[in-house]
Amino acid sequence: MNPIMNQDPAAPSSTPAPAPPPRAAAKPVALSVRDLRAGYAGGAAVLKGVSLDISERRVTAIIGPSGCGKSTLIRCLNRLHEALPGAFCDGQIMLGGRSVLDWDPVLLRREVGMVFQRPNPFPTMNIFDNVAAGLTLNGERDRAKIAERVESSLRRAALWDEVKDKLKSPGTGLSGGQQQRLCIARALAVEPRVLLMDEPCSALDPVATARIEELLLEIKETLTVVIVTHNMQQAARVSEYTAFMLSGELVEFGPTQGLFTKPADKRTEDYVTGRFG
Ligand SMILES: Nc1ncnc2c1ncn2[C@@H]1O[C@H](COP(=O)(O)OP(=O)(O)O)[C@@H](O)[C@H]1O
Ligand SMILES: [Mg+2]
Repeated sequence: MNPIMNQDPAAPSSTPAPAPPPRAAAKPVALSVRDLRAGYAGGAAVLKGVSLDISERRVTAIIGPSGCGKSTLIRCLNRLHEALPGAFCDGQIMLGGRSVLDWDPVLLRREVGMVFQRPNPFPTMNIFDNVAAGLTLNGERDRAKIAERVESSLRRAALWDEVKDKLKSPGTGLSGGQQQRLCIARALAVEPRVLLMDEPCSALDPVATARIEELLLEIKETLTVVIVTHNMQQAARVSEYTAFMLSGELVEFGPTQGLFTKPADKRTEDYVTGRFG
């Protein structure tokens, strides 16, 4: 466990705080983003100064039309974006009171895990080893501890009962929905504090999608989740906060219910009511 996790100055104290302003996060901030500009080799900025605070142990959804910069934004959060040749990114992103630039990228990505659109289990590994991969990569050698963590991660990802008798089978032999839960278990196994999910259900059928949404409601008890989704019903179902983006700008950000029922910006209203065009 990273000791920094216990040093949040914004952690709730026993004295009751005055009522927060309506837009304030109800929880301490896990990630704060200020004036984020980012783009790709040779191109103009595709993020044009985005600022938002991601609340701890809440689900924040990012919605907006294709190409508006949702994936770019979340890939900046764990510094995956900068891994692309020529990609640029400026502004400030703070995790636990520290700029992400001050983190070792490998450690940062352990704290800020990611699940992608297409389930991507390691093809040569069995189910157990897929989940254990991050732990062994980080130098964990205690087999009992690894086995314990694999089981608890698979349970948190609501997959344990389906795979406990075939842990040595290939991860790629599972259904698409199971593979995505396997990837979630793999991400959870290293105990991140934030989980980024980039359209995690877009390749899944409605039943598999519902299972992922259910497990999200469970894991957010202990974890901060940022989920990109093109499905507004999904955002409404799973998130407490929603950010609406358009052309690289954050148009509106606030409690999900308010954003969907009483959007402050006409562009948000047009988008959430399907009149966007
Ligand atoms: N690897 C890349 N190289 C160049 N441009 C890219 C790359 N990835 C995304 N873009 C461009 O950046 C913009 C934002 O893309 P993206 O963040 O993927 O949007 P979204 O996830 O909202 O669909 C788009 O115009 C897209 O074409
Ligand atoms: Mg995307």
